[in-house]
Amino acid sequence: MLIGIPKEIKDHEYRVGATPSGVRELVNAGHQILVQKDAGTAIDFTDDQYVKAGAKIVPSAKEVYGKADMILKVKEPQKSECDIIRKGQIIFSYLHLAAEPHLTKMLIKSGCIAIAFETVTAADRSLPLLAPMSEVAGKLSIQAGATALQKANGGRGVLLGGVPGVTRAKIVILGGGVAGTNAAKVAIGMGAEVVILDKSLPRIRYLCDIFGNSATVLYASIENIEKNVADADVVVGAVLIPGAAAPKLVSAKIVKKMKKGAVMVDISIDQGGCFETSKPTSHSNPTYVVDGVVHYCVTNMPGAVARTSTQALENSTLPFTLALASKGYKKALHNDKHLLAGLNVIDGKVTYKAVADALGYKFFEAEKLI
Ligand SMILES: NC(=O)c1ccc[n+]([C@@H]2O[C@H](COP(=O)([O-])OP(=O)(O)OC[C@H]3O[C@@H](n4cnc5c(N)ncnc54)[C@H](O)[C@@H]3O)[C@@H](O)[C@H]2O)c1
Repeated sequence: MLIGIPKEIKDHEYRVGATPSGVRELVNAGHQILVQKDAGTAIDFTDDQYVKAGAKIVPSAKEVYGKADMILKVKEPQKSECDIIRKGQIIFSYLHLAAEPHLTKMLIKSGCIAIAFETVTAADRSLPLLAPMSEVAGKLSIQAGATALQKANGGRGVLLGGVPGVTRAKIVILGGGVAGTNAAKVAIGMGAEVVILDKSLPRIRYLCDIFGNSATVLYASIENIEKNVADADVVVGAVLIPGAAAPKLVSAKIVKKMKKGAVMVDISIDQGGCFETSKPTSHSNPTYVVDGVVHYCVTNMPGAVARTSTQALENSTLPFTLALASKGYKKALHNDKHLLAGLNVIDGKVTYKAVADALGYKFFEAEKLI
C-alpha cells in the first residue's frame, strides 16, 4: 500500500504520523511511503533519516494526499487538508469528531474511510491509542508541578523531594488511571509524599498492590479530597468518566483554603477540567493564579515533548497501521472488532454512534458497510 505522512499543520503541533524507525517497519512489510518534506524536522527526524528508512520525500501536502492510499497522521485534518482528501482514501488519525461538526461534514462529503485513534478499543475495554498520551501527560504533570512550585514561577518555593532535615512536598493525585498512575510513579521517584484518590475499588486495590507503602491510596470521598487537597503542595487532576465531562472534584471554596503558592495541574482539562477554578491554557502561557494557587491547565500537554509523544504513539498505532496496509482496510476491519471500533465515517456515512448522536446524523452499523 502507498502510505502518506503529511506534515502536521495544526498550531504548535510538532508530532508526526510516523518516525523513520516506523517507516522502516512499514517498508520492511512491503509498503511504499511518501513523507512530506520537513514533516519531522522540528523534532529532529530529518528527511535524510526518512529516505534512509526507505521513504520518498515529496514537497507538498497536495502530493501526499493526491497519491497515498492511506494517510497516517496525528491531529484531525484541518480545512486545507479536508479539501484534498480523496474518495476511498483511508485517514488514520486522532479525529475527535463529536466535538467537530464542520470536520465531520467535510469527511462525510469527501467519501473517505476515517478511522479515529481515540475510538479504537482493546479487549479490556480500554482505549489503547489514547493511553500513550495519558502516560506522557501523567509523567509531565509532575515536571510541570515541580516547575510551577518554584518561587520565580509563582509557587511556594518547595522542592518535591525535600532534603535531609527538611519536609518533602505533598502531591495529591485525583484519579489513579493511566495518567494518575504515571504521575504517581514520577512523584514517588522524585521523593515526594504521594496520595492517590480514586472512586473505583478494583483500581484502588491495584494501586495499593503496585505502590505498596510508597503511596497512600484512598477512596475519593468528598471528605478525603477536601482534607488532602487543603494541605497539598501539588494537586494533579487526572479523572475520567468516559464520554462525559470531568466531574468537578475541587470547588473554588476549597481552592481558597489551600496553601498560598501551591500548584494545581489539571490534566483532565481536555474534558472540561476537574477543578472549579480551571480554564484551558496553552504551552506559550501555561499558568495563571487563583486565590494565590498556581493553575496549570494545558489542554495538549504531550505537545511539549513532541518527540517522545510521537514515538509513544507510534508504538501503539504501528500494529494497526500494518494491519490496515497489509490486509487492506476491509479485511483488517473485518478481522478485528477493536480496530473496527475506530471506524467513524465511511462512504459518507457515520458509523460511530456517539458522533452520530452528538451531531444529528443517521447512525450506520460499521459491520454492515464493509
Ligand atoms: N491535558 C492533556 O494534554 C491530556 C493528555 C492525555 C490525557 N488527558 C486526560 O487525562 C484524563 C485521564 O485520562 P486517563 O487515560 O488516565 O483515564 P483513565 O480512565 O485511565 O483514568 C481515570 C481514573 O479516574 C477515576 N475516576 C473517575 N471518576 C472519579 C471520581 N469522581 N473521583 C476519583 N476518581 C475518579 C477512574 O476510576 C479512573 O481510575 C482524561 O480526561 C484524559 O482526556 C489529558
